[in-house]
Amino acid sequence: MTRWLAGTVGERGKVVAVDLDTRFVADINQHNVEVLEADIRHLSLENDSFDLIHARYVLIHIPDFQVALTNMLRLLKPGGWLVLEEPDFSAARAVVGERAACQSVDRVNQAILQMFGNRSMDYALGIKLPAILQKMGLQQLCVENEAPLSNGGSGVATMMKMSALQLAEKYIATGRATQEDIDQYCRFQMMNGHGRYTMQR
Ligand SMILES: C[S@@+](CC[C@H](N)C(=O)[O-])C[C@H]1O[C@@H](n2cnc3c(N)ncnc32)[C@H](O)[C@@H]1O
Repeated sequence: MTRWLAGTVGERGKVVAVDLDTRFVADINQHNVEVLEADIRHLSLENDSFDLIHARYVLIHIPDFQVALTNMLRLLKPGGWLVLEEPDFSAARAVVGERAACQSVDRVNQAILQMFGNRSMDYALGIKLPAILQKMGLQQLCVENEAPLSNGGSGVATMMKMSALQLAEKYIATGRATQEDIDQYCRFQMMNGHGRYTMQR
């Protein structure tokens, strides 16, 4: 997004990329990009306000996301655009596949929801955001709801497998899924061309 925005705003525009962990944007060497390692809840930029602020899969990781939202709105120019892309993990499920495998996938999905809940993070934030923004008084809301079906081996499926491998201990600690479920989940995410579909967002 940072690289794309830098190309879109052109020579006279400016893009500020903010994350607690900037390792994936640190190597962007474009004169119209500034990379800031900062907490979006408390970031204060004296001389900057923005035509557009974008966040993807960020608010869902912040228990007090309202603080982040309020700060983003403060940093926005009057009439500016706030573009948020947030998931609703409660919609994730195995759609097609062998019964036992689908049950394992669904148990791992339950573990993911439980893990978010245990950390006071709202796993269904994406579906609630429009109402939250309405309540905050925002006008001209435009809402799109995507429900992609991912075939095994697709980019999203591969990413979910990598997440499961990295977070396996935390998933198991919820008591909702076992190591066997996680192994099954990982195999399922990579089975291609045999009608193994998951819905994940
Ligand atoms: C799932 S990643 C999404 C990364 C990126 N936005 C994307 O779409 O590829 C969530 C990111 O949110 C960042 N993050 C979490 N809490 C944050 C906060 N309070 N302020 C800034 N960044 C935060 C994490 O460091 C992580 O890089």
